[in-house]
Amino acid sequence: MSHQTPTPANAPRVTIPAVRAKKGGEKIVILTAYTAPVAKLLDAHCDMLMVGDSLGMVVYGLDSTLPVSLEMMIAHGAAVVRGAHHASVVVDMPFGSYQASSEQAFLNAARVLKETGAASVKMEGGSELAPTIQFLTARGIPVMAHIGLMPQHMNQLGGFKTQGKEAAHRKAILEDARAVAKAGAYAVVLEGVVESLAEEITRAIDIPTIGIGASPTCDGQVLVVDDMLGMFEHSARFVKKYADLRGVIADAAQRYASEVRGGQFPDASHCYGVVKPSASAVKGKRK
Ligand code: KIV
Repeated sequence: MSHQTPTPANAPRVTIPAVRAKKGGEKIVILTAYTAPVAKLLDAHCDMLMVGDSLGMVVYGLDSTLPVSLEMMIAHGAAVVRGAHHASVVVDMPFGSYQASSEQAFLNAARVLKETGAASVKMEGGSELAPTIQFLTARGIPVMAHIGLMPQHMNQLGGFKTQGKEAAHRKAILEDARAVAKAGAYAVVLEGVVESLAEEITRAIDIPTIGIGASPTCDGQVLVVDDMLGMFEHSARFVKKYADLRGVIADAAQRYASEVRGGQFPDASHCYGVVKPSASAVKGKRK
């Protein structure tokens, strides 16, 4: 097993029923991924790779996830599936691709599964989305729901704020969790909700809860890979940085620039000189 490809190509891929069956058991490990090479590196360590619409901000430098298109999600979803052989890949449905009707959601989600090879889709929404989740799951499309802080609702929420602080809001989020579970979602992301609510939801429903800024008691956790690799100067409180890639990249770029300007790069070892054929190679050719 090489470092480049830590997962043997013939290893069995994690299935949706296997993820679902982890409820209350071993924690489910999820990271976002947007490209094939990064997916390849994360694959062996994760149960699932999530192609989040966070790619709009992380990869494309957009201000929010709202402008992300279905075509962007499909292109990155297919790249991640090509890079990962073990983890189950879930692709986010972007804003405007599923809210209009169950039929719209089915047609677009079917495109995602057909054109990427991913096993499931993720959608933001609670009780109002339950009929759509039921429609899709009845027709063979596994759905991961996403409630609490829903970045696609940022204009309505007025920013990224912790959800479920007031009693009425807390009750509504708990109802959302119950509704998406009843509708057939195989798991639900709880983003940016107060810890005690995440705990209560995890106890109340029989599908895995995946926390991000929620609670360690959730059945699994997800983080945006660029956040946990330390690619950004500022991150939310819930992010733990496991590396400082920002520093590593800036340092490498600075050393490269200085060596190019100083004439130290490239040196002879990076150039194609004329190589004399060895005696044995010449002998082999004459045979
Ligand atoms: O878009 C995304 O990456 C997500 C996760 C952070 C849950 O929705």
